[in-house]
Amino acid sequence: MATNIELFERAQRVIPGGVNSPVRAFRAVGGTPRFIARGEGAYIYDAEGRRYVDYIGSWGPMILGHGHPAVVEAVQQAVRDGLSFGAPTEREIELAEAILALVPSMDQVRLVSSGTEATMSAIRLARGATGRTKFIKFEGCYHGHTDALLVKAGSGLATFGHPTSSGVPPETAQHTLVLEYNNVEQLEACFAAQGPELACVIVEPIAGNMNFVRASLPFMRRLRELCSQHGALLIFDEVMTGFRVGLTSAQGHYASLLPGFEPDISVFGKVIGGGMPLAAFGGKREVMKHLAPLGGVYQAGTLSGNPVATACGLATLREISRPGFFDALSAKTRQLVDGLKAVASDNGVPFSADCQGGMFGFFLLPELPQNYGTVMSTDKERFNRFFHGMLDAGIYLAPALYEAGFVSAAHSEADLAATLAAARSALR
Ligand SMILES: Cc1ncc(COP(=O)(O)O)c(C=O)c1O
Repeated sequence: MATNIELFERAQRVIPGGVNSPVRAFRAVGGTPRFIARGEGAYIYDAEGRRYVDYIGSWGPMILGHGHPAVVEAVQQAVRDGLSFGAPTEREIELAEAILALVPSMDQVRLVSSGTEATMSAIRLARGATGRTKFIKFEGCYHGHTDALLVKAGSGLATFGHPTSSGVPPETAQHTLVLEYNNVEQLEACFAAQGPELACVIVEPIAGNMNFVRASLPFMRRLRELCSQHGALLIFDEVMTGFRVGLTSAQGHYASLLPGFEPDISVFGKVIGGGMPLAAFGGKREVMKHLAPLGGVYQAGTLSGNPVATACGLATLREISRPGFFDALSAKTRQLVDGLKAVASDNGVPFSADCQGGMFGFFLLPELPQNYGTVMSTDKERFNRFFHGMLDAGIYLAPALYEAGFVSAAHSEADLAATLAAARSALR
């Protein structure tokens, strides 16, 4: 049996950094990534046979836990019928219908293979539909690794962003405006200066890429108003929050607090694929008519709407639509978060935490942060010690302080109790 260390050394010889997506490399926390051999329910098992309670859940998709029988059955059946056709199938219609039934802000949806592809296409669609070029994104929100989205704030308000990745030409970033999350004044000033030129604003409604930071209600309300006033489209990136924070996603949550609230374009991924490569973007017919083959905004994909991925997504949506599913998941997640807060308080550790549905975040900070700058003021050394303490105790948390966590339907009372017991030692 190969050890994690041996596998990591072997991987680094043939794969840059030994991983196929950077955060898996444990660079932020140090140490050796665990090579996962299999998953079952709430657990994953590494190459050395060690079991972990999994709070990453493939970064969100595994809302039912690993190997849910109904999902496995649906996938096995789909595989027998064929892996890919590059031609339309009835299952794509079924999945589109299932998604639209739960997302009233959308009349139509286009299926793609990754969240990156979906957000990239959504921005192209917004630009094509409005005939405008510039757009706003917020610091700390991640929308995939498209050139124009790998951008950090410029030196002042209403200046253009700078690429955060080498290989991105500055010209590519010159139409991207980066503002602080939850900062209403900056938003107003930016719209006042650039409003008529803005194609869209893209936002994570509950940001899961700076741990877990909610858009405040005043911020969300103003964002909607300003977009409508200036004819810019509001894009909700629900790749992470979609069907994860609730059956109606984050937009349903905000609509329950701000009556009538709707984004113009929504992007989904993760849960709608149930662990297979699948994502989607959609909106009202008026907007979607601009997409090829109806309109002039080109977008395509060899594996888009893949028959196995759609079977996996459909089976997953069916399970999470069962009555009471989200009530149970939310209660469990809340129990975890409240338990962690109590343990931290007993140990005198500054700690704050929040959750919605099956998504949660915690901070080694006395109060919940409102933006990226505050998230990153966390004591990193302390976070890393906590992370490794938990990992050694068989609790698999995200290996970076700016990532959200995920609870699945498969997590049991015993798993939560084991997690809190481990936290009690790790925070001591
Ligand atoms: C909010 C959000 N948008 C987009 C993406 C990109 O999705 P993918 O990794 O499937 O390309 C992610 C990935 O984590 C995400 O969290």
